[in-house]
Amino acid sequence: MTSTPRHLRSLLDLEPEAIHAILDRAQEMRVLRGTPEHGLPLAGKSVAILLEKASTRTRVSFEVGIHELGALPVTLIAKDTQLGRGEPLSDTARMFSGYVHAVVYRTFGHERIEELAAASTIPVINGLSALYHPCQLLADLLTLKQEFGALEGLSVAWVGDGNNMAHSWMLAAGMVGLDLRLACPEGYQPEPSVLAQAQALGRGSITLTTDPGQACEGADVVTTDVWASMGQEEEAKLRLKAFAGFEVDDALMARGAERAIFLHCLPAHRGEEVSASVIDGPQSRVWREAENRLHAQKALLEWLLRDG
Ligand code: CP
Ligand code: NVA
Repeated sequence: MTSTPRHLRSLLDLEPEAIHAILDRAQEMRVLRGTPEHGLPLAGKSVAILLEKASTRTRVSFEVGIHELGALPVTLIAKDTQLGRGEPLSDTARMFSGYVHAVVYRTFGHERIEELAAASTIPVINGLSALYHPCQLLADLLTLKQEFGALEGLSVAWVGDGNNMAHSWMLAAGMVGLDLRLACPEGYQPEPSVLAQAQALGRGSITLTTDPGQACEGADVVTTDVWASMGQEEEAKLRLKAFAGFEVDDALMARGAERAIFLHCLPAHRGEEVSASVIDGPQSRVWREAENRLHAQKALLEWLLRDG
């Protein structure tokens, strides 16, 4: 444990060079998985996974990844802990800091990620907040590297809500140099403050439109996410109307480059944000993308917990 921990609250906590180093190491770990050369770089350590929202991929990929690194995963469903009975988050942070070497935290408002990190002397990893989902972006960038080789200059079309995933793509674009076009309905555009931060990073380009076809024109990657995120369940009906015309279907994919691939962080709703023909079709890389959560997070944990 260190008194100045490295965190992953958002991608802004990583330098572009660190992102590339983590992705390269993730690919190496993918190849070495199950061999003696893989080793147990976090042997004897422990990592907590604290969940205030549902999770399938994040929980399983972290638990398995932590185990494969030689460490112990400890998963807590927040409502079943003393947090659910009013124990302050800052007390939880101080207690975790004495037990485990890092904590993965999935929550609602992003300020809770900041609060946990501020009171922790161990790394805090954002396992999804309403504002960002950085672990998913590491896996998505790994998927692009595997598919295309280099990241710089790739064109990515985001079709849908200006949500935590859209925000994370924006930061990634500014850090690794993607040409990102976001097509979001009126009223569902990303946060202007995140756009300003992403543009200030100085690499790539980010454009906003309300026209999915325009965003997808010639794109190497077309990606989307659910129309109602966790915590927005009551808006689901309203959003269904607002997002009409934003389904990624064969016609939209046909606007992309010939080599275009489709990504989705999952869970997906076939017939809403994506057609079954696209997500289950030949351009989809969603299963590779989901698997990459494992490799990317293992490399991330090793990077965050390295000495010095
Ligand atoms: N993509 C993702 O974070 O999935 P889960 O919500 O299942 O963890
Ligand atoms: N935007 C979605 C992503 C789920 C992985 C949500 O926050 O629910």
